[in-house]
Amino acid sequence: MKRSSTRSLYAVQLCFLAAMASAAPVTVKLPAETATLKSATLPGYALAQQKCSTCHSADYINFQPPGMSLAQWTAEAGKMQHTYGAPITDEDVKLIGAYLAVTYGSAKAIDPEVQAASIAMPAQASSDVTTLLQNNACLSCHAIDHKVVGPAYRDVAAKYASDPQALTKLMASIEHGSAGKWGEVPMPAFAQLSADELQKLAAFVLQQ
Ligand code: HEC
Ligand code: HEC
Repeated sequence: MKRSSTRSLYAVQLCFLAAMASAAPVTVKLPAETATLKSATLPGYALAQQKCSTCHSADYINFQPPGMSLAQWTAEAGKMQHTYGAPITDEDVKLIGAYLAVTYGSAKAIDPEVQAASIAMPAQASSDVTTLLQNNACLSCHAIDHKVVGPAYRDVAAKYASDPQALTKLMASIEHGSAGKWGEVPMPAFAQLSADELQKLAAFVLQQ
């Protein structure tokens, strides 16, 4: 019994494949991008809106299993930072984790550990790479994975992947500006940045 029903299921699949192969090309129309994050009064909400939708849609968050804890959501935000290079600080990870755990997970806003995680600390030292990117408006012209005014950081990283001089070259491009390497539009110079800051920015771009 079992055998024959498996076999007929297989036959159905084959028919389906044959039908697909002979049918006219099908245009798949994806639904319009409407995914948004659920609103909340926690400080992590604004941060998540700003920082969690540059690479993928909010549905990545909406479709996570329900009931995840503060630790699990914080780990998820941390994974974006460490594994995928999301330009967010440890402080952001903590705040966004708290927002997500309360809004999508099992945590309650009154949980003491959620409250502790929801307190925003004063601005980071200016050497922090996220702060550098923000303060110098790098992200108004660049994104990690798509061209804006300037090239995607991922494309820059790919272009220089096997260049032993990459770090120095990119430090120079940021400090003095760059023209003609990626297109018509030049990049302005950032001469006010220190060597340490230039190195952090160039290293960040190369990690993408
Ligand atoms: C630098 C790009 C980038 C940013 C910014 C980013 N993500 Fe992701 N995210 C990814 C990639 C890459 C994946 C895995 C993609 C895949 O598997 O298709 C992913 C997957 C996910 C998933 C699905 C589960 C998983 O672990 O694969 C969730 C949930 C998620 N991201 C949440 C977030 C949150 C929350 C933020 C804001 C803190 C964020 N993402 C910001 C790149 C990013
Ligand atoms: C006004 C828009 C703008 C801003 C602001 C900007 N960039 Fe660019 N960036 C560009 C453009 C346009 C290019 C391509 C230039 C070219 O074709 O050589 C570029 C190129 C680059 C490159 C590749 C250079 C090379 O040698 O291949 C890096 C790295 C880079 N930008 C990093 C940064 C960093 C870091 C910041 C902030 C400190 C920043 N950019 C701010 C527009 C901008």
